[in-house]
Amino acid sequence: MSFVIAIDGPAASGKGTLARRLAAHYGLPHLDTGLLYRATACALIEEGLPLDDVEAAVEAARGLSLTDFDEARLRSREMGEGASLVGAMPPVRAALIDLQRGFAARPEGAVLDGRDIGTVICPDATVKIFVTASAETRAQRRALELAARGEEVDFSAILEDVRKRDARDSERSAAPLKAAADAVTLDTSELDREQAFAAALAIAARGRRAR
Ligand code: CDP
Repeated sequence: MSFVIAIDGPAASGKGTLARRLAAHYGLPHLDTGLLYRATACALIEEGLPLDDVEAAVEAARGLSLTDFDEARLRSREMGEGASLVGAMPPVRAALIDLQRGFAARPEGAVLDGRDIGTVICPDATVKIFVTASAETRAQRRALELAARGEEVDFSAILEDVRKRDARDSERSAAPLKAAADAVTLDTSELDREQAFAAALAIAARGRRAR
């Protein structure tokens, strides 16, 4: 039976790391769906188009190919902000549904992480985990991540970003960030990477047995 793990959560909650590690553990393919929104924003920026051009954003989203993402460029703070803007446009989200569902429909299963995987993209996922952490913890993690990439970091600006993005992602009408009713919430504020992974693995194993 196919094994689909849906991981959702706010910015810098650690969902990407957990998704990657769960995928490696179970030998499943992994899709970081944030990259789709980041790549859509990136296409507009590269063409010199404004980020509120819905038509151009839909066209960019339709033209995405999973194999040619420049991850280093897409992970910047600028692209994260852009992703959050295009991600609030219902036609952009609609344009990306088939790509994500197609990925999740692989025979062995898949791990997908994002904001609306358990609620919209894969409502029948075998396991749903909603990963969260306090805004301060997430801003600290994001600051370390950006510094490691050589970006200049200003902690208060990053905390402000995290809060602004939480508000925009949770309050938008199209697929707002929220835990699915049948998701297990994992708060990683007080957990290190290993503890968070152990907790996620326990949730996944339990969910799989229950099916
Ligand atoms: O971890 P972080 O939120 O910085 O990055 P991300 O997961 O790559 O998401 C960037 C932005 O894309 C989010 O703030 C969301 O607005 C949007 N996004 C979305 O709307 N739906 C998804 N499934 C994934 C990302």
